[in-house]
Amino acid sequence: MILVIGATSFIGQIVVRKFLENNFSVRCLIRTDSNTEKLKAYLSSYFEDNSYLENKNPNLEFTSGNLLSPDSIYHSLKNIEAVVYLIDLKYTNYIKGLLDVLAKTNIKRVVFLGSTTVLVPIESPVKQAKIESEKLIEKSNLDWTILRASMIYGSLDDGNFSSMINFILKKGYFVVFGKGNNLIQPIYIEDVANSILFVLKNKTTFKKIYTICGPKPIKYIDMLKTVQLLLGRNFKIIKLPAKLSRAFVSLYCKINKNSKLTPDMIDRIQIDKTYDFMGAVADFNFNPISFEEGLAKLIKLIKNQ
Ligand SMILES: NC(=O)c1ccc[n+]([C@@H]2O[C@H](COP(=O)([O-])OP(=O)(O)OC[C@H]3O[C@@H](n4cnc5c(N)ncnc54)[C@H](OP(=O)(O)O)[C@@H]3O)[C@@H](O)[C@H]2O)c1
Repeated sequence: MILVIGATSFIGQIVVRKFLENNFSVRCLIRTDSNTEKLKAYLSSYFEDNSYLENKNPNLEFTSGNLLSPDSIYHSLKNIEAVVYLIDLKYTNYIKGLLDVLAKTNIKRVVFLGSTTVLVPIESPVKQAKIESEKLIEKSNLDWTILRASMIYGSLDDGNFSSMINFILKKGYFVVFGKGNNLIQPIYIEDVANSILFVLKNKTTFKKIYTICGPKPIKYIDMLKTVQLLLGRNFKIIKLPAKLSRAFVSLYCKINKNSKLTPDMIDRIQIDKTYDFMGAVADFNFNPISFEEGLAKLIKLIKNQ
C-alpha cells in the first residue's frame, strides 16, 4: 500500500487516480479539517463508481494525520511500502518531521515532488527553504527520489494556465510585462503523475534528483498566441514595459502592503526558465506531451466544466 501525503492538492487527485488505475492500494493522509469531497467526487466521476464517494472502495483508505504531529504520521505508516509526498518542499519543518518518523520505521521508499524553483537564478527565502529540504532528503537513509517539476498545468485547479484562461474568458485581454520573449517550459499534469508512477518501483531512480518539464521551451508571447489559437479568441495582449511596471509595482507595494503583485515577481517573469530533462528520459523514458496538446486538453476541460 502507498501512502499519499498531499492527496487533496491539485496534483494529488490525479496521482491517486493513476495509482488506483494501476492496481495499487492507496492510503491518503488527510488533516482532520481537510475537505476530501473534491477528491472523492473526482475519483467517482473518473471511475463512474460511487464507491469512492461512499468510502467503500477496498483499494482506497483515508487516514487522519498532520505533518505537525509525528504520532499521527507514525500511525499512518502501518503496512505502508512506499510514500509519495506532494507538498511544497518550502515547508522544511514538515520534511524534518517526516524524515524523523520514517527513520523509526522500515519504510525506505519515498518519492518527493519538488520544483524547478531551486534552479532559477534568483535568490529568495522560498528557494532557500526548498534547497534545505532537498539536502535533508539527500542526507537521509531512504531510497528517495526527488522530481523537480516546472510549472504544472492541465487541471481546473492548477492555479497557472487555468486561472489565466478563466481571466481571459472573463476580461477579454491579458497583460504581459516586457516583450514576452522569455522562455518557459510548463509540464502537463498527467506527465507529472505518470513520472511519479514510473519512478515508484524503478530502482535506477533511487537516490536521484530529476528535472521534469515540457518537451521544449516556448516564448511567453508564443504561448499566448497558442492560447488565442486554441481558445478561438483573439483576445488583446497588452504589453507593459518591464522596468516601468517594476517601478510602479514597487511604489504600489509601499502603499498597499497586501499587494499580490511584487517587484521580484516581475523580475522572475522576465527570466528564461528552460531545463534539461535528459536524466528522466534515460532512467524512466520520460516523454512529455507538447504544450499544444496539453493546452487543448485543458481548454476542453474548462469548456466542459
Ligand atoms: N503549482 C505548480 O506549478 C507546481 C510546480 C512544481 C511543483 N509543484 C508541487 O505540487 C505539489 C502540490 O502543490 P500545491 O501548491 O497544491 O500544494 P501545497 O499547498 O504545498 O500542499 C497542499 C496539500 O498539502 C496538504 N497539507 C498541507 N499541510 C499539511 C499538514 N500539516 N499535514 C498534512 N497535510 C498537509 C493539504 O491538505 P489539506 O487538504 O488538509 O489542505 C493539501 O493536500 C507540491 O509538491 C508542489 O511542490 C507545483
